[in-house]
Amino acid sequence: MEITIRRLKLADAAALSAISKKTFYDTFTGTCTPDDMNIFLENYFNERQVAKELNNTDDLYFFAEIDNRPVGYLRFMEDYSNFPLMKKWKAMELKRIYVLKEFHGKGIAQKLMDFVIDYCIEEKYQVIWLGVWENNLRAQKFYEKYGFENSGHTHDFPIGHTPQTDYWFWKFL
Ligand SMILES: CC(C)(COP(=O)(O)OP(=O)(O)OC[C@H]1O[C@@H](n2cnc3c(N)ncnc32)[C@H](O)[C@@H]1OP(=O)(O)O)[C@@H](O)C(=O)NCCC(=O)NCCS
Repeated sequence: MEITIRRLKLADAAALSAISKKTFYDTFTGTCTPDDMNIFLENYFNERQVAKELNNTDDLYFFAEIDNRPVGYLRFMEDYSNFPLMKKWKAMELKRIYVLKEFHGKGIAQKLMDFVIDYCIEEKYQVIWLGVWENNLRAQKFYEKYGFENSGHTHDFPIGHTPQTDYWFWKFL
């Protein structure tokens, strides 16, 4: 099974919108009301919104593909707006790492994680940080395997009217 990682172009907006909606839905369905879910999917993952992000050259989006089909994606950016404490370092926010559920446990996520870590080492980042839902134990376990730790800081990540709390995890390089 050959996994290819490639940076996305504007022409990938429709495919990115589709995989973003699918993976977010599969991860968080049942943790909020159906209305909150639908509004969230439409607000954050509509094609126009993701096209705007793809147009920002600082916003780094990559697909993991098998036979030219996206099976997971990665988004990272040097953006301190969500966690200003990180300005103390040259820090990268790993904004999203999402893999289609039928490909969990198959090495896709590892490939994506290795990719972002290698990128950050190469570009001399000091730390990578990310938000993970307090009850997303699989993702937390995955991050811990890569040496991420709970920073002890949290932030609110409501899905519509449903309150949720994320932990900020970080990994110093
Ligand atoms: C998070 C994600 C990228 C990890 O990729 P993956 O291929 O599933 O990761 P792995 O299988 O290598 O690692 C997951 C680990 O969690 C463990 N695990 C599985 N279910 C678990 C659970 N309910 N509780 C705790 N640990 C769990 C697995 O056993 C594995 O650990 P191991 O390798 O020591 O056995 C992937 O699951 C995913 O895309 N999830 C949905 C989207 C998501 O949650 N993204 C992160 C948002 S912050």
